[in-house]
Amino acid sequence: MTATPASDSGSGSATAGSGSASRSGASATPAIELRGLHKSFGSNHVLKGIDLSVQPRQVMCLIGASGSGKSTLLRCVNRLEEPTSGAVLIDGIDITHPDCDLDLVRRDIGMVFQQFNLFPHLSAIGNVTLAQRKVLGRSDDESRTVAIEMLERVGLSDKADSYPSQLSGGQQQRVAIARALAMNPKMMLFDEATSALDPELVGDVLDVMRQLASEGMTMLVVTHEMGFARRVADHVVFMDQGVVCEQGPPDAVLGSPSTPRLQQFLEKVLEH
Ligand SMILES: Nc1ncnc2c1ncn2[C@@H]1O[C@H](COP(=O)(O)OP(=O)(O)OP(=O)(O)O)[C@@H](O)[C@H]1O
Ligand SMILES: [Mg+2]
Repeated sequence: MTATPASDSGSGSATAGSGSASRSGASATPAIELRGLHKSFGSNHVLKGIDLSVQPRQVMCLIGASGSGKSTLLRCVNRLEEPTSGAVLIDGIDITHPDCDLDLVRRDIGMVFQQFNLFPHLSAIGNVTLAQRKVLGRSDDESRTVAIEMLERVGLSDKADSYPSQLSGGQQQRVAIARALAMNPKMMLFDEATSALDPELVGDVLDVMRQLASEGMTMLVVTHEMGFARRVADHVVFMDQGVVCEQGPPDAVLGSPSTPRLQQFLEKVLEH
């Protein structure tokens, strides 16, 4: 199934087709599917009918102006936000259904935020082992072995015993990624994972994300890094005021935007 534009956008939705064919079977059950997703905070109608599908092994980048609803959308995917209406399906299971075991579903979904949210009193390895022990019930030995492997994967095996205050922002973010990966997620959500970093530290984190993508991780990535979106994404979605305004392969969406809103957005982003 290919992703479809929001039906009630009224803002000139355009679809340039799915770019995921090379990485995923067209008939697979989507890893993430949003159907008619609405979210309001009081009278603020933030998401206005989002229909999206992320295929297994697909990397979807979500771009859009501040306040367009990107974080809210991402947080609805694991129900950190409660959708007002519509459905969220993870591997075909509607997680908005009252019978759904949300804890179980959330174990499959790793999330990395702009702020790394590491425990300051725990070393890197302490941060990566904690949820493994508490949530998955792994032994000290097993969680440590997995943690070392994951810290290696993000290029930080030499920092296992360092505390967050002894690590750069980029290193802390890579610990946060290792922490998420240690839970063996089926998919990863990234919400502006590099926005809080000094420019020279962004590359190392993007490299880890690029590596994950090349290993076939299913990823939904909110980012302002247009170079990353262009090179790594299979599919780019431009959100504007709570609707999907444009979507398709990165070259089409970023190279020849068809709506004035996206053209303006890209001009602004590329100015900086
Ligand atoms: N918990 C909340 N309570 C009330 N309003 C909220 C909450 N979270 C988000 N909003 C509102 O929802 C709208 C969309 O916010 P959201 O954070 O999803 O935007 P965004 O696209 O991620 O923006 P940015 O690029 O700045 O991160 C904003 O008007 C925001 O004020
Ligand atoms: Mg946001």
